[in-house]
Amino acid sequence: MKISLVSAPAAELNVDALAVPVATGQKLSGPALELDKTIGGVLSEMVVNAEFRGRIHEVLPIPVQGRIAPRRVILYGLGAVHDLDGQRLRSAHHELVRASRTWGYKRMAILRAEPLGMDSLKGVVEGCVMGTFERRSRQTGAAPERREIDELSLSGFGSGREHEVVSAQENGEATNRAREWQNAPPNELTPDALAQEATRIAQRHNLEVEVLGPAELKSGGYNLLLGVGSGSARPPRMIRIRYHGNHDRRGASATVLALIGKGITFDTGGISLKAPDQMSRMKDDMSGAAAVLSAIDVIASRQVPIDVMAVVAAAENMPGPNAQHPGDVWVSADGKTVEVVNTDAEGRLVLADALTHALRNGATHLIDLATLTGAATVAIGHAASAAVSNDDGFWSFVEKAAREAGDRVWRLPIYADYRILLRSQIADLRNAEYGEAGTIMGGMFIAEFAGGKPWAHIDIAASAWNTNSELTTILRGPSGAGTRLCIELAQAMAPSERNSWPPESVKES
Ligand code: BES
Ligand code: ZN
Ligand code: MN
Repeated sequence: MKISLVSAPAAELNVDALAVPVATGQKLSGPALELDKTIGGVLSEMVVNAEFRGRIHEVLPIPVQGRIAPRRVILYGLGAVHDLDGQRLRSAHHELVRASRTWGYKRMAILRAEPLGMDSLKGVVEGCVMGTFERRSRQTGAAPERREIDELSLSGFGSGREHEVVSAQENGEATNRAREWQNAPPNELTPDALAQEATRIAQRHNLEVEVLGPAELKSGGYNLLLGVGSGSARPPRMIRIRYHGNHDRRGASATVLALIGKGITFDTGGISLKAPDQMSRMKDDMSGAAAVLSAIDVIASRQVPIDVMAVVAAAENMPGPNAQHPGDVWVSADGKTVEVVNTDAEGRLVLADALTHALRNGATHLIDLATLTGAATVAIGHAASAAVSNDDGFWSFVEKAAREAGDRVWRLPIYADYRILLRSQIADLRNAEYGEAGTIMGGMFIAEFAGGKPWAHIDIAASAWNTNSELTTILRGPSGAGTRLCIELAQAMAPSERNSWPPESVKES
């Protein structure tokens, strides 16, 4: 999809459809009202009569009888203005594009009108690009009805903002790449395949990449990852990509942001086997890995001036003759002993070793993304990722990034009182069986391995994949949750453009 900013009057755009945003309870105004007059007032008539209400995801094509250059006008809803955050803005445009594809439009335009401000450009573009995502890439036979949009023109968003469009398009495409990986079947996307994807990304940008297999994992003491992977014929991998973006501030004080992803390519639960109805979705248990890999791809290609590493702990959690037992005790890579009371609480195990791996390789700030707990769905549902953090300062960056990305996160508390629930009778820690505060406890287990560094844990178990058929304004199926969050976090933590570039010495001359 080619996206461009256009300055010609919207009524003169040679497109199949011109989309006009409408919020509930708002009348058409400005350029939307002008357009409406040109075509005889049919738009405001429909709005005033409540034939079109402007509800989010409401999309309605209207014939214009040749009165303007566009063949159709599309009214599309944004919902109530006071509900319109970055995530809903993207969702509305996702749906606009998705619906337009089913109608076969090739060339589209969007008219910026109230309540979309000039600052909505990024969300509009990201949402539209996400709307091009196609889940049915593995269907054979008759081509699916869903068609592609070739050109998208943006009217009324000003000029000279091409770089913003390009960045937003990259963010949207990165989100879709993560969704593609989430969607990939587990016989395709194995731990090794995930490592190959990471290697491809690293090679594309000339980045350092390291993939540890069972032998290296053993010598490095990554027994928690090995334990989780031991039931599978597909061996585990610890994957690390390193991007050096900060050329100005080398040395001990420099920030090295680690993006850490849970990469369980299939989670059967292991010996603590899941019930069939809870297992079918578990191919997406690598959604955290998908997000961090997709994010570092963009961070590197955009040359964000900060040092970043992506670490993925990849394994398949299977029952089998070599599978770990409930009751096994392992020495983790950082030396703590862990009693595995439930093999289905495998995410925190592999992440514990992944955090240690990141710290060993110089990480100063840690964020992990993981489809960690079913309890996240209970706590806040699919509408946001659940989070915990040990550091208010770092958290403020995460929160800012989430807002900028339209990728919601909601922080849950860590109370010291819970810590006793992590205790094992025979080891330093146990991995499950707490009975309450499941999402927080999962996070608190991981926190034990953060080495006291600023850390945030994003539980995307619910946000990565909306399975609720009634919750229709949240993207259904794979969402790529956390992808844009990671990109924005790196950007938010990078020294600001003005400070870092050009360097003082260059500025003087
Ligand atoms: N991958 C699951 C969490 C999950 C559940 C993700 C539902 C997406 C949808 C994770 O490995 C898991 O099984 N967690 C257990 C933890 C429990 C045993 C402490 C859970 O949530 O039931
Ligand atoms: Zn899992
Ligand atoms: Mn599990």
